Amino acid sequence: MVPAALASAPAREDSAVFETLRSVVRFDRPALDRRARRLRRAASVGDLRRLARRRLPRGVFDYIDGGAEDEVTLAANTAAFRAIGFAPRVLRGVGDVDTSTTLLGRSLPLPLALAPTGFSRIADAQGELAVARAAARSGIPYVLSTLATRSIEEVAAAADGPQWFQVYVWRDRGLVREMVERAAANGYEALVLTVDTAVFGRRERDVRRGFSLPPAIGPSTLIDGAIHPAWTWQFVRSEPIRFANVVGAASGASGTSRASAGETAVTLADYVNAQFDPDLGWADVEWLRGIWDGPIVLKGIQTVADARLAATAGVDAIALSNHGGRQLDGAPAALSLVAPVVDAIGDAVEVICDGGVRRGSDIVKAVALGARACFAGRAYLYGLGAAGEPGVDHVLTLLADDVRRTMALCGARSIAELDRSLLRAVDPVDERT
Ligand SMILES: Cc1cc2nc3c(=O)[nH]c(=O)nc-3n(C[C@H](O)[C@H](O)[C@H](O)COP(=O)(O)O)c2cc1C
Repeated sequence: MVPAALASAPAREDSAVFETLRSVVRFDRPALDRRARRLRRAASVGDLRRLARRRLPRGVFDYIDGGAEDEVTLAANTAAFRAIGFAPRVLRGVGDVDTSTTLLGRSLPLPLALAPTGFSRIADAQGELAVARAAARSGIPYVLSTLATRSIEEVAAAADGPQWFQVYVWRDRGLVREMVERAAANGYEALVLTVDTAVFGRRERDVRRGFSLPPAIGPSTLIDGAIHPAWTWQFVRSEPIRFANVVGAASGASGTSRASAGETAVTLADYVNAQFDPDLGWADVEWLRGIWDGPIVLKGIQTVADARLAATAGVDAIALSNHGGRQLDGAPAALSLVAPVVDAIGDAVEVICDGGVRRGSDIVKAVALGARACFAGRAYLYGLGAAGEPGVDHVLTLLADDVRRTMALCGARSIAELDRSLLRAVDPVDERT
């Protein structure tokens, strides 16, 4: 007969192993929704970019992700942030960090607004509506593009957060005036006049893929669509994608053609070059000032000389921007202009840094250099492409958490405490990444 003590030994060992396992193994409650599962594991905007790349057809992803020509400026926008590090202060009592600030007279929870991006519905069927709702939930201003695929009215009705309207100057000034009036009537708080698109930049990824807007269905797009069934299913089920802000004008007095209203497939380059006025000048800024009572932001300033001119042109803010590296390849990184421009113009107008923001620490760096706030474009588009509206929420949460954490780790309790003393140049040799 086996002694009782010996017979129970393996059982005791088993239960000890089980106890140990129980203390170290945690089974997450399974997320019901595949999207929620995807998002839970996305720790950064970079992760969302990878998810978007998997979910979107190549042509669509490249339209969002790509830049002009050799994409030198596109890369410079993000590299400029990496070239600056922190000189953090400690023992400063950062139990209560306040990330709020003001921009154009409005208080914001953090120094961020969402940049205008055209044609958002190719990333997700809800498009601009999803972005506007997510921005409103976070209290972040959303700049609706002239080339949006949801109209000024639809976006205003969808969300009650701060909304601004971005203006491209059409050759047909009547159409511009009409859009500005619609923006005013629908409660948009500011206009953002984009001035870096006299002609369209050469985005070679789009050329190689024969990318058109709306995306045309051909043999290669059919294959691409089949490989990305979730996107394709959404795309074919939702109403046709159009330039929603100019659709009404297609048959109206402005005489805009069907193609120019985005009802037939065109390359964006052909469309822009036919519709936008390359003769745009400082007199047009004055004209816009005359037809709009609220704040105006000039977006696309790329030199100190033009920042000086802007400071006396009757606008309220400038966005230092190269259009996310999508226009002139070789233009300076937006971040590299912040300090020289702020030093040159002081606080004559507010300065927004636009281009390359992928982390909240980027926002902290730009503000410490002297920017009032940042715009972010692709960051939220990656979230939208990866997981629709919850993806945009996720990006905004990541950025807000990053800003708060970075400020705490730098020893800054408020935005006012962010200054250049907290920054240092990164030595590219010692700190290879
Ligand atoms: C897909 C896409 C579409 C864009 N469309 C517009 C637009 O319609 N009007 C505009 O002023 N800027 C447009 N931009 C530029 C953004 O407003 C912003 O300047 C740029 O995205 C900033 O760089 P980031 O993407 O690195 O944040 C677009 C950018 C992207 C990526």
